[in-house]
Amino acid sequence: MYFPYARPRRLRSSETIRRMVRETTLSPDNFIYPLFVTHGKGVKKEIGSMPGNYQQSIDNLVKDCEETYSLGIPAVILFGIPEHKDELGSEAYSDRGIVQNAIKAIKDKTPDLVVITDVCLCEYTSHGHCGVIRNGEVHNDETLALLAKEALSHAMAGADMVAPSDMMDGRVGAIREALDEGGYENIPIMAYSAKYASGFYGPFREAAESTPQFGDRRSYQMDPPNSREALREVALDIEEGADIVMVKPALSYLDIITQVKQEFDLPVAAYNVSGEFSMVKAAAKLGWIDGDRVMMEILMSMRRAGADMILTYHAKEAAMLLNK
Ligand code: PBG
Repeated sequence: MYFPYARPRRLRSSETIRRMVRETTLSPDNFIYPLFVTHGKGVKKEIGSMPGNYQQSIDNLVKDCEETYSLGIPAVILFGIPEHKDELGSEAYSDRGIVQNAIKAIKDKTPDLVVITDVCLCEYTSHGHCGVIRNGEVHNDETLALLAKEALSHAMAGADMVAPSDMMDGRVGAIREALDEGGYENIPIMAYSAKYASGFYGPFREAAESTPQFGDRRSYQMDPPNSREALREVALDIEEGADIVMVKPALSYLDIITQVKQEFDLPVAAYNVSGEFSMVKAAAKLGWIDGDRVMMEILMSMRRAGADMILTYHAKEAAMLLNK
């Protein structure tokens, strides 16, 4: 049927009709809110390139978590900024590490909020890489034991889910084994499965103080031009025991989100990363775009691409708009 009989505009004629034929939904239920926790008391230091996001000490973090949960957001993901960094990133797997302490404090106040932890060494190592350095290179297999130890210590502190972001080969299996042996067989793993070596992580590295001190992450994170490789990475993580698979970044990788969603039957997460967030904030500040509108459009695009959940720094502001 052609024009003039066919007129797609008929179903766009009012907001109510548009609501009836809307194919994709966006809700606070879809969000996971990233938070940065640091030592001290009463600390709430705004991250310059990420307005509205802070490095916070545990007391303030706990309040933020209460607010997050009260907005209908089911989960947070924690990133720790240690007091001391060393070659092996030892605060990452210390019982008294910043993240371990934060988990306990949050679960004490908001037990129903799902606390996810980022499992990686880069925030904790003096060299800023995601693994152990041997002969100037990030050594895969030696790193696995440390990541497993880190994940287990998060679970012991009360984390509800762990999320390895390092991109070492075999880390999901190593973590699954350590969790199971420790009696945490019910703690799910959300794997950063297809994580690309991306320029969009710039602001995060300021926030987490995790810029590599030499070289870059291209020998372990994925090469941006590749998509078939992403499916292989996801397949391997699923074989090793991943419960949720993630694509990161999200906005320039919507095609990858769609392919992963079509190919596999596990829940898919998308990480709307720091650079994606900061671009919106910067352009809105200059008055070049309507920040709220663009934010909602971007988040919706990730859902439309196939993301079941979205890790996003916009979580609270978007939830406020959705709750109106
Ligand atoms: C740690 C990690 C990074 C991000 C999440 N976990 C940074 C990186 O790989 O350099 C990026 C998140 C963001 O940019 O919002 N490996």
